[in-house]
Amino acid sequence: MATYFDTPSRTFGEYLLIPALTTRDCTPDKVSLATPLTRYKIGKKPELTANIPLVSAGMQAVSGTNMAIALAREGGFCFIYGSQSIQAQAEMIRTVKNNRAGFVTSKWNLKPADTLQDILDIKAETDHSTIPITSDGSPHGKLLGIITSKDYRASRDDPKTPVEKLMTPISKLITDQAGISLKAANDKIWDHKINCLPILDKKGNLNSLVFRKDYDQSKTNPLSLLDDQKRYLVGASINSHDYTERIPALVEAGADLLCIDSSDGYSVWQKETIEFVRKKYKGKVKIGAGNVVDAEAFNYLADAGADFIKIGIGGGSICITREQKGIGRGQASAVIEVAKARDAYAKKTGEYIPICSDGGIVHDYHVTLALAMGADFVMMGRYFARFDESPSAKVKRGNDFFKEYWGEGSNRARNWQRYQMGEGKNSLSFAEGVDSYIPYAGPLKDNLAVTIAKVKSTMSNCGVASIPEFHKKAKLTLVSDLSLVEGAPHDLIVRD
Ligand code: IMP
Repeated sequence: MATYFDTPSRTFGEYLLIPALTTRDCTPDKVSLATPLTRYKIGKKPELTANIPLVSAGMQAVSGTNMAIALAREGGFCFIYGSQSIQAQAEMIRTVKNNRAGFVTSKWNLKPADTLQDILDIKAETDHSTIPITSDGSPHGKLLGIITSKDYRASRDDPKTPVEKLMTPISKLITDQAGISLKAANDKIWDHKINCLPILDKKGNLNSLVFRKDYDQSKTNPLSLLDDQKRYLVGASINSHDYTERIPALVEAGADLLCIDSSDGYSVWQKETIEFVRKKYKGKVKIGAGNVVDAEAFNYLADAGADFIKIGIGGGSICITREQKGIGRGQASAVIEVAKARDAYAKKTGEYIPICSDGGIVHDYHVTLALAMGADFVMMGRYFARFDESPSAKVKRGNDFFKEYWGEGSNRARNWQRYQMGEGKNSLSFAEGVDSYIPYAGPLKDNLAVTIAKVKSTMSNCGVASIPEFHKKAKLTLVSDLSLVEGAPHDLIVRD
C-alpha cells in the first residue's frame, strides 16, 4: 500500500509567528542575518557564509553578472544560470571575479577611430560618462586615453569627430599599476583631485578603473561578500548531465560555490555529480544539491556529501510542475520536515548542513517564516527578477513598467537538463514553467533594504538576534481561513 502523509501540505501563508519577549539585546539594529552557506563541523566555522540570507535563483531571467555583483555587494549570493553554454557561463563567472570591489572592468570602451556619436550613444544607453579609448576598443586593450563629458561639447562638436581628437591622451592621465591596493588607489584619487584612476598592467593594457564615487560605496556596503582578494563571491548552477566538462570550466573561472539545479534532486545522478566533485577536488570545491521536499531525500543527498540542500518542488511563481506532473509539496511543510531531518543529522554526525528554501516567496514576511521554520537561507526568482539588475527586458504595458520573467522549464528557456532524468534528451517534451510579466520594482538596493528591515523587525518582535537563535526559539501557529480575513483591512472602505 502507498505511504500517506498524516498532515496536509501547508504553505507559508498559513502560518503566523507569535512574538516573544523583546529585550535590549535584540532590537532590530542588533539583529545579525549572517548565515552559513556550506556544511561545517559543529563548533568550527563554515567556509562560506552570507551576510544576508537571500540568494538569487539560477535562472536566465534572474541571475546574470549585474545581479551577482549587486547582490554580493549587499551581502547576498547569486547563482549564475546554467542554461547556457559552458563557455558563456564561465565567462560570466570571470566577469564577476574580475570585478574586485572598487576595481571595475570597463564594459563600454571605444577605439581611436570611433566617433563622438558613438560616445553619445553609449551615454544615452547607459548613463556612463567615462569611456576608455583602447587600441582595439576592448576592456583590456592598450590604453590610449580617456573621454569624459568634460572633453566635448555635444551641442557644438561635429558628431563625426574621431574620439582620438577629443580624448585626454594617456600622456596626460594619472594611472597606476595592477596590484595596487584599493586604499592606495583611493588616496591617489584624492591627492590628484581626479574622478577616475585607470589601472594598467605592465604592458600598458587597461586592467580596470577605480572611481571616486565607489569609495563611498565601499563605506556604505560593509556587508559585501568578498573573497580574500577582495573579489565578489559568486556561485554557478550546474546540472547532472554535462558536469564533467562544466564543473572544471566554472572552477577554473573562479566560481565559489556550485549548485546542482534540478526540479527533483532525489536521484542517483545528483549523487554521482557530488561524488565527482568530492573525488576531483577533495573538499576544496563546494557543491549544493536539490531540490527535495522530505527527510528521506534530504538524508540521501546529505550522505552523498552535499554542502547545502535546497528545498522546494512546484512552489515557484512561474512553476506548473504540480499541474503537469502531480509532484511537489507545500513549501512550509517541506521546510519544516527537512529542517527536522537536518537537526537530527547534525546530532548524529556532528555536521551541520545548511538548507535553503527555494521558491514561492510572495511577501517579505515569507522570508522570515522560512527562516523561523529552520531554513538557513532563501532562494528567490520572481523577487529579484523585478529589479534593474536582472538580465531580462523592462517593458511598458499601458502606463506601467514590467520586467519579463520566465521559468527554466518554460518553452522560452528550454532548460531540459533541469527537468530530465537519466535519458538526457536535447529538448523539453513538455513545459514545466510559464513565461510572464512582473511589475518592475527599481534598483535592488532600495528594495532589499525594505525586506531586510522587515525581517529584522519581526525577529526583534520574536525576541531573537540571530538566525540560529530564531531556529530554536520561533513560535508558530497555523491560521484558519477566518483569521486570514481578520489579518487584512476589513469592515471598512480603504481610501487609497
Ligand atoms: P519564485 O521565487 O517563486 O519565482 O521561484 C523561483 C524558483 O522556481 C527557482 O529557484 C526554481 O527552483 C524554480 N523554477 C525555476 N524555473 C522553473 C520552471 O520553469 N518550473 C518550475 N519551477 C521553476
